[in-house]
Amino acid sequence: MRVNENFRELPENYLFAEIARKVADWEVRHPAERLIRLGIGDVTRPIPCAVKTAMLRAVEEMGDPQRFRGYGSEQGYSFLRETICRKDYLARGISLSEDEIFISDGIKSDCGTILELFGKDNIIAICNPVYPAYLDAAAICGRAGEYNPAAGGWTKLHYLPCVEENGFFPSLPTGRADLVYLCFPNNPTGAAATKDYLAQWVEWANRTDAVLLFDGAYERFIADPALPHSIFEIDDAKTCAIEFRSFSKTAGFTGLRCGYTVIPKALQRCGMSLHGMWKRRLSARSNGVSYIVQRGAEAVYSDEGEKQVQESIDYYMENAAVICRELRKSGFVVYGGKNAPYVWARRGEAMDSWRLFELLLNECGIVTTPGAGFGTQGEGYLRLTAFGDRKATAQALGRLEKLFH
Ligand code: MLT
Repeated sequence: MRVNENFRELPENYLFAEIARKVADWEVRHPAERLIRLGIGDVTRPIPCAVKTAMLRAVEEMGDPQRFRGYGSEQGYSFLRETICRKDYLARGISLSEDEIFISDGIKSDCGTILELFGKDNIIAICNPVYPAYLDAAAICGRAGEYNPAAGGWTKLHYLPCVEENGFFPSLPTGRADLVYLCFPNNPTGAAATKDYLAQWVEWANRTDAVLLFDGAYERFIADPALPHSIFEIDDAKTCAIEFRSFSKTAGFTGLRCGYTVIPKALQRCGMSLHGMWKRRLSARSNGVSYIVQRGAEAVYSDEGEKQVQESIDYYMENAAVICRELRKSGFVVYGGKNAPYVWARRGEAMDSWRLFELLLNECGIVTTPGAGFGTQGEGYLRLTAFGDRKATAQALGRLEKLFH
């Protein structure tokens, strides 16, 4: 008997689990104090009313012998896939067929399990800093090599530094890379990519036979009309990219769970269709997402749903603007927060990010995310989320101003 030895290489806790552990300790030590959470990107506004109504209707259907539904399609109900094609893609000039959309329980699972489509010795390129779920997924299935901090991290990964000098936009890989995780608007830095920038990646991937794994979880937060919302807005992306999207941050689905993955039929590698492979894999691994939740997701696109979603996005982006402004007043150098719900900030004078995290937790009762938790290039930074309640966010910034003045 052997276990998956790759687990030995993993850090003991997933980043947000480690933070939750520290926060729980703090709460035990400070029972009377009010903690303000600007750490994990979890939403605080309830699901839109249109979504709630649609789900209640779906619950009624499921309880009615005439309208009850058992297993649905593993790929998701046609009503939702067709709506996504029309509203998220056709409306932006992208033509996809509904069976190129795969409904899922969200990006976190799909962006990890997508690796099952690819050979074990592929080289994975990953941004530094990065959303840690990609990295842990690569490590668990043995694609990351060994963890050697002295050698700069995981031995098999190709790291792409995202630093102030490159505006947090990674350069194209200098050596071999077969799979590249990209996320724009970016988690954690908040950087949002232009079409020209993404076009370089698409040209490179088609030329080198690589595949781009594009995380578009935060596209609804793009305010600048010139910026692309999808990798498929770039010519020729259908032959080199897979896109992941989520209802979590857009419509308050962090607890409901629903997202989708787009794999164009034109995406072939080694004579095989990645679309066909993913479909085959899904039929073996999943029975799809609940009917009730998919009816809720469909309602996100109704006139009422779109209006309510926009209200939440505006609310969160107003939080982001307040966070940026107040952090600058308190002496932070600040990035992001304009086309993304994350603010990436460092002190003017260099400061260790876990120390800064502890300082804010212990002195102000504020939870943030230390930049170093996203990778070595995140050292010195903190990530703050705009998903908090407005009053609590303002209160947190007030506490912070007192600390630094
Ligand atoms: C984050 O805080 O980075 C996100 O909430 C994590 C996630 O979406 O899984």
